[in-house]
Parts: sequence; C-alpha cells; structure tokens
Amino acid sequence: MNRGQRRTMPSFCGTLSLACLAFATFARAQVLTAAQLSAVKSNLMQGAKQSWELGTETEALTEFDSPHYSVVKGAVPPPPGPGPASLDEVFAIAKNIVSNLTISPSDPNAPQPLDLPPGMAAGDSASLGFAVLLADWTGRGKVDGLDYGAAATAQVDWTLTDVPRTPDGAISHRIEQVQLWADSVYMVPPTLAYYGAMNNNRSLLEEAHNQIRLYRQYLRDPSAGGLWKHILLGEASQDDEGHWSTGNAWAAAGMIRVMATIQHSKFSREMTSEVQDLISWVSEIHDGVYPHLNSDGLFNNYADNSSTFHDAAGTAMLASTVYRLSLLAGVHTHIPLAEFSRKSISAPLNSAVSSHASPTSTGAAAPVQSLLHFDNEMWLTPVPNPDNWSVLGEHSPESQAFVIEMYAAWRDWVAAGSPGAHGI
Ligand SMILES: *[C@@H]1O[C@H](CO)[C@@H](O)[C@H](O)[C@H]1NC(C)=O
Ligand SMILES: *[C@@H]1O[C@H](CO)[C@@H](O)[C@H](O)[C@H]1NC(C)=O
Ligand SMILES: *[C@@H]1O[C@H](CO)[C@@H](O)[C@H](O)[C@H]1NC(C)=O
Ligand SMILES: *[C@@H]1O[C@H](CO)[C@@H](O)[C@H](O)[C@H]1NC(C)=O
Repeated sequence: MNRGQRRTMPSFCGTLSLACLAFATFARAQVLTAAQLSAVKSNLMQGAKQSWELGTETEALTEFDSPHYSVVKGAVPPPPGPGPASLDEVFAIAKNIVSNLTISPSDPNAPQPLDLPPGMAAGDSASLGFAVLLADWTGRGKVDGLDYGAAATAQVDWTLTDVPRTPDGAISHRIEQVQLWADSVYMVPPTLAYYGAMNNNRSLLEEAHNQIRLYRQYLRDPSAGGLWKHILLGEASQDDEGHWSTGNAWAAAGMIRVMATIQHSKFSREMTSEVQDLISWVSEIHDGVYPHLNSDGLFNNYADNSSTFHDAAGTAMLASTVYRLSLLAGVHTHIPLAEFSRKSISAPLNSAVSSHASPTSTGAAAPVQSLLHFDNEMWLTPVPNPDNWSVLGEHSPESQAFVIEMYAAWRDWVAAGSPGAHGI
C-alpha cells in the first residue's frame, strides 16, 4: 500500500460539488464484463461453505439472475408456480441444507436452526431462511420430498424462542452468550420479515423492524458520526467496538432487505412509519461512512481508521445499498460516491486512480491479472479475512457476493434511468 492510496476524498466532496465529480472521474468509467461477472459468481458458488456465506450467496444470486424473486425487486410473495431455472443453484442450496436436518420423530415441529455447526453463530443459520422459504413457495417440496415450510418455521421459532436476548429483547447473534454483532442485522431481521410476508403475519414484519431498532440503539455510535460499532457485549476476547466497514454494510443491507420486503408485501400501506425509520437508519449509516471514502474509491477496513487496510468488500456492499436506497426510497444523496466506488472496484490494473497493484496481487500469478481489484481468477481484493475480520484475507466468498449484489443493484438502477446520477 502506498501513501497516495491513503489520502481521503477532498473535503469539498462532502457537498458533492462539480469539482468533486471532476475528481471522481479520475476513475475511468469501467464496467465488469459478463464473463468477468460470471467468474466472480462461480468463485462465490464454489467458495461459499459456511451458513452465512450460503445464505448471502442465495440472496446475491437471486438478485442477479432472478430479480423478480428477490425481495429488493420483486413482489413478496413472488409469482406462484415453479420458479425459473435461474433459481436452480438457490434451490440446490436449500435442498442440501434441509435434507441434512434431523427431524425428531417424537416432536417433528420442534424449533431448530437450519444449520448450526459447533462454534457457529446463532444468527448465521437464519440467513438460510430466504432460500428455504422460496423453495417452499415454488413447490420444490414435492419435487424433493422435503418439508421446506416446516424447516423454515422451525428456524424462525428457534430464533424467537431459543436464542438468548438482551433485557430489552435484542436477539443475540451468538447462542452461548448474549452478544450483538452488526452482521446479525443482515442475517436475522430479513428472514423474520420474509417469513412474515410469506405467511401473512404482520407481527413478524414488525419484529424485524423492532430488532433493527434495538440493534441500532446498542451499536450506533453518535460520537463517530453515526457509524456502527461491530460487536458489543459478551466475551471480551470477541468484543470489537471499531467501526468495521463490512459491519456497517451488513447492517445497511439488512435494513434494505427488510424495507423492501415490507414495501413489496401487502402490508406496505399499513407500515409506512416502519419504512420511514428504515430509510432514515440506512441514510444515517451512509451519512456516517461516505465522508471517510478514500481517494482510491475504497473504504478502510475500519471506516474511520486510516491505518487499517483498504477494503473492497465492504465498499462494494455499501455501494449496493446506495443504489437500492435510490430505487426504493428516492434518496440519491450518495449515488455519485457509490458510482465512484463501483468504477474504482472495476478499474483496470493501470488505472489512473492508482498505479500500484494492491498488496495481495504481487504473487506469482500476477502477469495475467488485468484488473486492479481482482486477481487473475476474479477474486476481489483487498478484502478482510472472512474468519478474522481485522486482518487482510484472500478468496473471501462473501466478498464475491457483495460484488454480485452491487452489480445487480447498479443494473436495476441504470434500468430505472440512473436517478440522481448527478447527486440531485
Ligand atoms: C450435508 O451433509 C453432507 C453429508 O454428510 C455433507 O457432505 C454436506 O457438507 C452437508 N451440507 C451442509 C450444508 O452442511
Ligand atoms: C405470527 O407469528 C408469531 C411468531 O411465530 C406467532 O406467535 C403468531 O401467532 C403469528 N400470528 C399469526 C396471525 O399467524
Ligand atoms: C487503528 O488500527 C490500528 C491497526 O489495526 C490499531 O492498532 C489502532 O488501535 C486503531 N486505532 C483505533 C483508534 O482504533
Ligand atoms: C486474527 O488475526 C490476529 C492478527 O493477526 C490474530 O492475533 C488473531 O489470533 C487472529 N484470530 C483468529 C481467531 O484467528
């Protein structure tokens, strides 16, 4: 990493002036090709193994390949009848997960998580709920001989009844202790909301909003401009009060999913105040984080700590939430900076943004690398290690999903006429 990459955006960028936009055009307009995006996707499909990676994969693939079945674009519930072949990978994940469940013959409806290997987080298994509910809705249960609906119900019941909570009711991300992680906002509330919308149960949509409200009360840091802390409470060894960029992205993206689920469900007219809250809470994260964007279009791994490495993963996920907020709520404030990030992430190796390859790209495989922020196999870089967020990683499946979500959101935003492209 070189000193030049650590400069932050000029202060006038806060006002999105023309001068700032001229600055941003240093990043030459760049778009990943269909072949490059398909390599990103295939890394995601091969790399995702852990429950939250699989859950995130199913959502990213749906948004990219089958948008009318996604909560961010389609009706909730989606059209009746079997889903399109573009959902096959999503269904394959649901089938693998549900066929591995052990159903107790004496208590077939007992609450239980979809997947909870030892050491894993309680919140993560909930992220699989989307694919399982979609498999149920589209009739995969008959084809596969599995009761997807019961498996989803068991997961939601388990989340609501068996996972410990704070005294005021925030559902812990961990099962063995009460601990709140920003990540959980992407894993749990969207599944409560989707289950509620698919089962005509408004109180679960309200509970999704309520969980986000509670998490925000704990994790939002007013002394850091509204950025969210990463992990609070519980074992000190895991506590992380830093403002992790990907954590802020998980929180904003979870809010977007819940907001869109409400808006695209039959409860949209009755739940406008919940939607307004979510719009303002996502905006708050954007307002807190975007002033920290670096001149290379990336955030630091901890958004407000310039001695941490640059992180393309959280950057991509945050950009996806900016396009979605523009589409779902007509808030375009941060569009120019999301565009700047997207172009930077898609830039060629010899881009004007920076003439230096990222730290992980200097290995033996470098010669055929043609993009600044992807290695020669189209893995995004630089990214945090998905199992140890404070250190630089490589080959992170969730990061591949964030690129897919960013491109799905950008494509939908372009199709809608690129609203707010000039910050209006
Ligand atoms: C399901 O079980 C099979 C066989 O035990 C195993 O190979 C596979 O990894 C399991 N899948 C998941 C998602 O746990
Ligand atoms: C909604 O879901 C909650 C939690 O599972 C349940 O207690 C409640 O009875 C459900 N309400 C309706 C109307 O189905
Ligand atoms: C910033 O990050 C560095 C490197 O990880 C760390 O040593 C330092 O404590 C962090 N500073 C703050 C204020 O968190
Ligand atoms: C994460 O990385 C830090 C810094 O290298 C190291 O001290 C720590 O032990 C690692 N944690 C895990 C769980 O691997």
